[in-house]
Amino acid sequence: MDKKSSKTAIETRIYDSTKELADAVAGAFKADSMEARKKGKKFFVALSGGRTPRAVYERLAREPYRSEIPWADIHIFWGDERCVPRGHPDSNFNMARDSLLEQISIPQNNIHRMRGEERPDQEAERYSLEIINTVPDSDVGIPRFDWIFLGLGRDGHTASLFPGASSLEETERLCVSAVDPESGKKRLTLTLPVINNAGRVLFLVTGKDKADIVAEILTAEKGKKSYPASLVAPTAGLLELYLDDSAASSIKSS
Ligand code: 6PG
Repeated sequence: MDKKSSKTAIETRIYDSTKELADAVAGAFKADSMEARKKGKKFFVALSGGRTPRAVYERLAREPYRSEIPWADIHIFWGDERCVPRGHPDSNFNMARDSLLEQISIPQNNIHRMRGEERPDQEAERYSLEIINTVPDSDVGIPRFDWIFLGLGRDGHTASLFPGASSLEETERLCVSAVDPESGKKRLTLTLPVINNAGRVLFLVTGKDKADIVAEILTAEKGKKSYPASLVAPTAGLLELYLDDSAASSIKSS
């Protein structure tokens, strides 16, 4: 069971282990996707790269989720991707394919890959259109993902929204090119307008190396948005932070 911490604008859920965290997220994913199916709706999700998201995908690829989640009604997008050739080990698509997509029966047309091998700016434009043509708008005229998974970097980046990047100021485009300041490598990323329009945004964060950034983000005085991850604030959706004990070790749990 998660040990609820104090409820702020973000719902923080703390688990003893990555396994427990992954089980909890997989259970919630099944519940929400089946709820959508009951209403005759498709379910739109954007996956993240990263260590903890991978653990969740691996859990979704096993029973009972493998066979009980209505994968045929689920459309899978990515929150970000590295600009690398197809098949490159750094690709977030390849990570999701190996950890989840190859283990479930989901129509190929439901898988919307960011083409990291294409010219970044052209692909960002194409991908924005693919989202617009597939994901229904909410009442503010922006496509609304049901779920968006996010990781958290030690520098407070999320998706491929890095500190100080111009992509943080983007108000129109849904997907833009980006540069990882550490490696200088190009990336593609969803922008804050579409992330903050999602129904449910889940940060998936484990490991002692994330404890400081988690504490900084959760304890920053109100309004001090000094990290990209701090700018994630769904206007009408649910914002959750899933942590294991190690990543939560610098915050007080109530
Ligand atoms: C990526 C991710 C990125 C990642 C964080 C955390 O493409 O790398 O989208 O935002 O989620 O860097 O990664 P870890 O969970 O592996 O530390």
